[in-house]
Amino acid sequence: MLTATCKAAPNIAVIKYWGKRDEELILPVNDSLSGTLSTDELCAKTSITADTTFTEDKMWLNGEEVTIWDNARLKNCIEYLRGIGEKKLTDKSVLNYKLHICSENNFPTAAGLASSAAGYACFVYTLATLYGLENQELTAIARLGSGSACRSIYGGFVQWKKGELADGSDSIAVQIAPASHWPEMHVLILVVSDARKKVGSTVGMRLAVENSELLRFRASHCVPKHTEQMKQAILNKDFATFGEITIRESNQFHAICLDTYPPCVYMNDRSHSVSHFIHKYNENAGEVKAAYTFDAGANACVYLLENEVAKFISYLNAYFPNDESPSDEYVRGIPVQPNPLSNSDLQSFGLSATISKNTFKYIIHTKVGEGPQRLDNNESLLGADGTPKNLKS
Ligand code: DP6
Repeated sequence: MLTATCKAAPNIAVIKYWGKRDEELILPVNDSLSGTLSTDELCAKTSITADTTFTEDKMWLNGEEVTIWDNARLKNCIEYLRGIGEKKLTDKSVLNYKLHICSENNFPTAAGLASSAAGYACFVYTLATLYGLENQELTAIARLGSGSACRSIYGGFVQWKKGELADGSDSIAVQIAPASHWPEMHVLILVVSDARKKVGSTVGMRLAVENSELLRFRASHCVPKHTEQMKQAILNKDFATFGEITIRESNQFHAICLDTYPPCVYMNDRSHSVSHFIHKYNENAGEVKAAYTFDAGANACVYLLENEVAKFISYLNAYFPNDESPSDEYVRGIPVQPNPLSNSDLQSFGLSATISKNTFKYIIHTKVGEGPQRLDNNESLLGADGTPKNLKS
């Protein structure tokens, strides 16, 4: 019996991937760039066991059994990796063993938190570890599961190069800098809704490619410029530039969504009030100190440096009061002690009325972290008999 257990984190794009030039191979129309989050706060965990006694491939996702072979993307990842194994492994017998796969993630599925990115990155990394193929080009395989998953194969700051070739072999992710290069880079996820998104990314970007004129201009003119500026900002640890491009990119991506016919609307009134608040915050600071970005959902992700977090949360709490605040349930993850604000602080801030109460369900405080990691076998989600330890009844 062979077994491996690994964990991987979602990533939050600062240069957005939106639009495919090849749907099956998942080849994008533009480069993208993201920070991979720390697995301490948010992660997918996968255990895979391969054994001669198993009669069929089986998979459990968050405690429920799912069918593997109906899922073309999962199938593509498994077959691609087995194909590499056929070429690279001396003992190929393991490639014929049936698999038991068990995967769990600890954050809301499909709430714009890129759960598919962590899930597929973790799955591909775990299967490659089981087969002894972890040094192969895993980003191209994770890409076949979900485009953004290729960026979660590395930690730190990662660029997905769109590539030019029709077979997708040059559409891979590369690390721009490890998390240790800029350890002060923190992230707050302001969870405004756990609800499933209305139009999934795959459908939303298909429509955009079909009929948004702005998408073509963005891919050819804006993204190449933004990507170069962003890479320099990361290498120079220049937060003001990093933040401004992050904000512009998010807004441009949502402009493409609105330019799609019929439009895809992902941000809601609460999202817009967060964006308004952050512009005010930066204006008062005299430079960009906090940068919001929204994916295909209403939750805001805010990049900011560690020494800004306490102040930012203090103002956020003042303008978005919450019945749960202060509590560990409300601000989860890395502990933070907000600074008390005086009346004059609030007056000089300049946002008069508070927005409606309980805008956020909760906030996750995390940071840019390392890529996927193998865990000890005693952390396996599968028992010694190859069935999940935790099943939903
Ligand atoms: C808005 O990777 O979920 O988060 O390739 O169809 O699975 P598929 O799409 P997915 O798209 C993510 C889009 C985004 C932006 C980004 O992460 O770059």
